[in-house]
Amino acid sequence: MDVFKVVGGAELAGEVRVPGAKNAVLPILAACILSDKPVQLTNCPQITDVDNMIAILKQAGCAVEENGDSLSVDASAAACCEMPQELSSKLRSSIFMLGPMIARFGRASFCHPGGCEIGTRPIDLHLNGLRKLNVRIREEFGRIHCESDRLTGAQVHLDYPSVGATENVMMAAVRAEGVTTISNAAREPEIADLQAFLNALGFCVSGAGSSSIVVRGGGMARATRHRIMADRIVAGTALCAAAITGGAVTVLDTDPRDVASVTAKLAEAGCRITCGEAEVRLEAPRRLREIPLIETLPYPGFPTDMQSLLFSLCCVADGTSVIIENVFESRFKTAAEMAKMGARCTVKDRTAIIRGVERLTAADVQARELRGGAALTIAALAADGESTVRGVEYIDRGYQRLDGLLRALGANIRRVRC
Ligand code: UD1
Repeated sequence: MDVFKVVGGAELAGEVRVPGAKNAVLPILAACILSDKPVQLTNCPQITDVDNMIAILKQAGCAVEENGDSLSVDASAAACCEMPQELSSKLRSSIFMLGPMIARFGRASFCHPGGCEIGTRPIDLHLNGLRKLNVRIREEFGRIHCESDRLTGAQVHLDYPSVGATENVMMAAVRAEGVTTISNAAREPEIADLQAFLNALGFCVSGAGSSSIVVRGGGMARATRHRIMADRIVAGTALCAAAITGGAVTVLDTDPRDVASVTAKLAEAGCRITCGEAEVRLEAPRRLREIPLIETLPYPGFPTDMQSLLFSLCCVADGTSVIIENVFESRFKTAAEMAKMGARCTVKDRTAIIRGVERLTAADVQARELRGGAALTIAALAADGESTVRGVEYIDRGYQRLDGLLRALGANIRRVRC
């Protein structure tokens, strides 16, 4: 188990490149099952969630070769398999295998991925969407069995624009007979990346980025190469790290539109934001200002994955900030650890009220989930003294060496094995 040792006080400065997006590469890896031709993915982040997804693909009979940030997947020998409980529970994104497995083999069997530290995370929207495509679903002893003799295109309306449900229905529908229309679809940029990949494979998907996605079933899978889009949450994390330390950082490889809801809040906090075509520069004031209201919403609203990071900023801002978490009910668990660093915050249900303090103080804190872990790490950058951040294994699930990224910008952070 690794911990981060972080000495606060250094102002971050410089330029940073952002690796490929976790939330894009995970469904795209699952979509590789759709093809019996070789696929090459570049710009893949080296994170443990990807390692686990590779283990799932191998379990299903795929050959996967890794070479730096490039992954070659050959699913020609893949077979339908019962997803083992151990793999499903390690990675919630194992649920992404559902749509592609049904599309290619007509059936899939897996364990409920369950809840996690950020909320209950049901999968009813995934299953209802698939039912519409003529998939029979039966639950037995904690396993979910899905079967379809003939997938058929349909009108699928999602009660909520779930990212995962939108992606699962897209991936199943590419092999359905006829046209599928997904209404109230999620609009996240990673869905557009999945669409680009599916089209590169030879399928026919349009509308991603809007709330209506059209999939014309059929098409032939062909060999392809795809570059994974940059991770907008890592970009936002680097901007927040610069902001909390009073620094000035340029984040490269980032489409400013993808982080617009985040930079708008950073500007409210007094940061100067300058955008290029594919880069964002942030110059922080000496002291951040309060942010009167941050409310998480589906894209293009403020992302729940950035909420904990903004929480850290609010802890040292001048004034009182309010955060409302609308997407995942348990995403304020980091507040108790922040309090160990001297943060003054009150959490009730889905609302946090944070009264900023001038300085945080170093503490021994425990990460319990990915984004909360990153939030504790950047808070430690603004704390007096040396903090220990435990639970780095959660951070490594979704950040490719967060410590290295911050160190490259001048942070005093070490990874220590304990
Ligand atoms: C994805 C992202 C995650 C991000 C989230 C919201 C990936 C790999 N993960 O997760 O980082 O935080 O989007 O932007 O892309 N819900 C249901 N029933 C369902 C599915 C979802 O009620 O069948 C609810 C969830 O409990 C949650 C909300 O819908 O309250 C949003 O979830 P969803 O958009 O599905 O998130 P994920 O795809 O799991």
